[in-house]
Amino acid sequence: MIVTIDGPSGVGKSTVTKELAARLGFEYLDTGAMYRAVALAMIRRGVALDDHAAVEAALAGLHVEMPPGRVLLSGEDVSGAIRTPEVSQGASKVAVIAGVRRFLAAEQRGTAAGRDIVCEGRDQGSFVFPDAACKFFLIADPRVRAERRAAELAAKGQSVSVEEVLAHQDERDARDADRDIAPMRPAPDAVIVDTTHLTTEQVIERIERAVRGRRDRGGE
Ligand code: DC
Repeated sequence: MIVTIDGPSGVGKSTVTKELAARLGFEYLDTGAMYRAVALAMIRRGVALDDHAAVEAALAGLHVEMPPGRVLLSGEDVSGAIRTPEVSQGASKVAVIAGVRRFLAAEQRGTAAGRDIVCEGRDQGSFVFPDAACKFFLIADPRVRAERRAAELAAKGQSVSVEEVLAHQDERDARDADRDIAPMRPAPDAVIVDTTHLTTEQVIERIERAVRGRRDRGGE
């Protein structure tokens, strides 16, 4: 059974996906981490991210693997290295490139085949897994998302203003939603969950109830 959780950055997808998967006894796949790994590889190789042909050519020797809780780039654990502002913006830039999306969508379908899995991203329900049993699209007020992200960064000792987070977030949202291929948008049959006024626990409970209901009805 495949469950998809899509939505913009800062909406709480990662926390919800991991906890939901744990409660259901499912695996989970963070597809944003895969775009991040590709961006990191290109930055390290000095490939210009707006040179689509060069990025597509450099994909040839690249291996992105997703063992539980980690991201491996050609065997190297890059789980920490992909969580920088530069790689966030870079991931959104390589994500507009057709060859990158084809490459990672194939990896994602291969990973999910035959598994019970929760897949998190921007296009999981709309494009990669159109037949998924349960699809959710999380939304929240942009300022609330930026406030949550700024608080997360502050907890890690990084002081960034809400305004600055909001500016980067807007830039990335626009690029992710306006691209030609598999833009970020809810699948027609996705359940939209507005998390603005909900706690993480409330979001998880709502989604878990829907998935269990679907499974009890024999959802595949
Ligand atoms: O979820 P994230 O912030 O780690 O994602 C990083 C970028 O990757 C995001 O800005 C857009 C891109 N992405 C995508 O285009 N499709 C996905 N399924 C997941 C992420």
